[in-house]
Amino acid sequence: MSAKSALPRHVAVVMDGNGRWAKQRSLPRLEGHRRGAAKARQIVEWAADCGIRQISLFAFSTENWSRPKIEVRGLMSLLATLLPREIAAMQQKGVRVRVLGDITALPKKAQKAIEKACTETAANSHIDLVLCLNYGGQQEVMAGAKRMCRWAAEQEDVAAALDSIDVSRFRNFLWCDDLLPVDLLIRTGGEHRISNFFLWDAAYCELYFSHRYWPDFERDDFEAALADYAGRERRFGKTSEQLISEQSGEKCSDSFAVRGDDAL
Ligand code: FPP
Repeated sequence: MSAKSALPRHVAVVMDGNGRWAKQRSLPRLEGHRRGAAKARQIVEWAADCGIRQISLFAFSTENWSRPKIEVRGLMSLLATLLPREIAAMQQKGVRVRVLGDITALPKKAQKAIEKACTETAANSHIDLVLCLNYGGQQEVMAGAKRMCRWAAEQEDVAAALDSIDVSRFRNFLWCDDLLPVDLLIRTGGEHRISNFFLWDAAYCELYFSHRYWPDFERDDFEAALADYAGRERRFGKTSEQLISEQSGEKCSDSFAVRGDDAL
């Protein structure tokens, strides 16, 4: 018997491979992104159908600004034109749109489309679609550290305030503080990297890499990722035996008590 994970509550996706998908077909890169945007729409539906609570899509990273201007402009214009067209379908599916990242740097038209999608879907509760735009995990952690320092500086005993921060309380200073922790991070396109996505939650999320280019990622591939996740044992530093006894409601015996050097 082993303690297995069931359905992830929060799935994050690095939608990689649009450019290579297009190149393979002698198409412009932007056509790959267009197909990628259509795939993004589909994965939200698949996730909603499965009962996943939150899906985060890495749509534009802080590093993506260094791509050719024409590609950046194309991505922004895709966002501004496609997002408003999806609102009716999202209302029907109960999708609430949220944003992670600093969207003030995006073109006004894209900002407006995002704000409209967030406002109009705010009351939906079936699934959250978290659009990660101008997002970077290092930037998020750094902003969190600054926010924590500002908070500590306002406390009477600054040193005691800082000492009171543990890993769980530090997460409250991050942009992702009101999101569920990421359970499963999927990356398509064959690369085995996190690329500055959800660095804090990457500490204990399960990673799944698919060789498929994002526009070719199909429902079967998504379900294979979920099945793979369901077979994982998420130990968070504990032993299998502890998890099993916790699941069966038994009290852990002293022989399984975690010592510092066991928590690896
Ligand atoms: C990575 O593929 C993909 C992106 C940088 C953008 C992802 C965007 C979408 C799926 C479209 C929806 C989002 C918006 C903003 C409209 P890549 O271009 O790095 O592919 P490659 O590694 O094959 O070159």
